Amino acid sequence: MAGEALLRMREVRKTFGGTVALSGVDFDLNPGEVHAIIGENGAGKSTLMKILCGVYPMDGGSILVEGEPVRIQLPKDALALGINMIHQEFANFSKLSVAENVFVGRLPRKAGFPLALDSRDLLLRTAEVLGRLRLPIDPGARLDSLSVAQQQLVEVAKALSANLRILIMDEATSSLNLRESEQLFATIEALKVEGISVVYISHRLKEVMDIADRITVLRDGANVGTFPRGHIEEAAIIEAMLGRRLRAAVKKAATRGPTVFSVTGLSIPGKVRNLSFELHRGEILGITGLSGSGKELAIRGLYGLWPSRIERMECNGEQVSISHPSDGLSLGITYLAEERKNMSVFPQLTIRENASVLWMRSVWRRFVVSRRREREASLQSLRRVNVKMAGAESPVDSLSGGNQQKMLLARLLMVQPEIVILNDPTRGVDVGSKQEIYQIIYQLAREGVSIIMTSSEIPEVTALADRVIVMSKGHKIAELSDAEVTTDNVLALVTQAAAADEHG
Ligand SMILES: Nc1ncnc2c1ncn2[C@@H]1O[C@H](COP(=O)(O)OP(=O)(O)OP(=O)(O)O)[C@@H](O)[C@H]1O
Ligand SMILES: [Mg+2]
Repeated sequence: MAGEALLRMREVRKTFGGTVALSGVDFDLNPGEVHAIIGENGAGKSTLMKILCGVYPMDGGSILVEGEPVRIQLPKDALALGINMIHQEFANFSKLSVAENVFVGRLPRKAGFPLALDSRDLLLRTAEVLGRLRLPIDPGARLDSLSVAQQQLVEVAKALSANLRILIMDEATSSLNLRESEQLFATIEALKVEGISVVYISHRLKEVMDIADRITVLRDGANVGTFPRGHIEEAAIIEAMLGRRLRAAVKKAATRGPTVFSVTGLSIPGKVRNLSFELHRGEILGITGLSGSGKELAIRGLYGLWPSRIERMECNGEQVSISHPSDGLSLGITYLAEERKNMSVFPQLTIRENASVLWMRSVWRRFVVSRRREREASLQSLRRVNVKMAGAESPVDSLSGGNQQKMLLARLLMVQPEIVILNDPTRGVDVGSKQEIYQIIYQLAREGVSIIMTSSEIPEVTALADRVIVMSKGHKIAELSDAEVTTDNVLALVTQAAAADEHG
């Protein structure tokens, strides 16, 4: 093979309590290579990269950089070697400028005046780094004026501004839409041109096949193969990941029971205009559109998570209002939040306690809560969504990312809701578990539960929904049902709407 590998990880082992996370994994990275790591939820992807970044110590194995053994015990050891990771929930300073965030801790001072910030130099140096990445971002802009996707790109710039040789992205696109993902891929190309190596972890196989030079598949803490681009088909990758063929969920026949819920005239100033819809019993209603269409805010607005005005809302024929999620809960409506870390997972609680939080709230008025009932109900729910865990009494942090998402779904199911609102239900979930979650959603609908859902991936909405509301610029522009519900139809509608905007 031409050229020396930049990084070699050899026989890396890691156990957490009784769980074997990595059982002797080899992983190589070449200079300027984009190397994807894929695998089921809990396969060990994040753990392997956290070891490389000095977040966890390894139990055994070795790491070589340019052929030399290195010791990485703390994050600063990794940084000194030029190894950096973009975290999903990055710690940034939202009230400071882009430039101050890029150079935080290393702000340039005026010569001879150690306390005086050289802001001209700071802006110039930031502009230079952003330029290398071809990012059209203003160095002087306040960070919180940028979208989450742009803030993530600022994180890349921050990594690049120091000595960077290896950049690790763990599910960087899981919350990005198509356009934002493309911007990120362009940024990755720019890094490659500079000879920087990128480790890319993602559950979106299509994008992995597009951008990776090589793909390593982990299964149950072992490397089951490293494949150069173009040498393996998607189906074969899935089989390597799962150890079996993928079984696609069987779509349920659309049902249209009586109306159980309706919203008339939902508006959010500047974002959503006069949205009305009905939801039938046992129906899966999708709301979709490009980013900025207002679909997510509409859903949050209707559940009291964003200020909105609603002319009329009815649940089972009675006029109701939801000004706080607890109002929704008492109406039998539950909501799966789009953001795991900040909104829904309680890190200080166990897996069981996390799963039970809604149930506890919904029953405490009516019953003296029995510990045993709570335990049984939560275990049953966790089993239903197939959360992979050492035990329900473990801390929730011990779950892999995708299994945390599944736990949140278990939490919603535990209260036996009549209506479920799902915002990005399979974020960070592997291809196999995705099909399992689809099957659960179909099953709920068959049992008569009504579902409102949206997703950052339009194909997911069209795969699941019986009926789809298509939004553009805050308006409902179309409603599709049954056989009309296809990704092509949705994309045609949203691109037509965008073109009409440009010309009018
Ligand atoms: N801090 C921890 N404490 C205990 N167990 C852990 C911890 N971190 C990870 N594990 C376990 O190690 C295994 C590998 O987890 P890891 O997070 O590496 O999976 P992953 O491949 O990144 O999955 P995902 O795609 O869901 O993010 C899992 O069984 C997980 O439960
Ligand atoms: Mg992970």
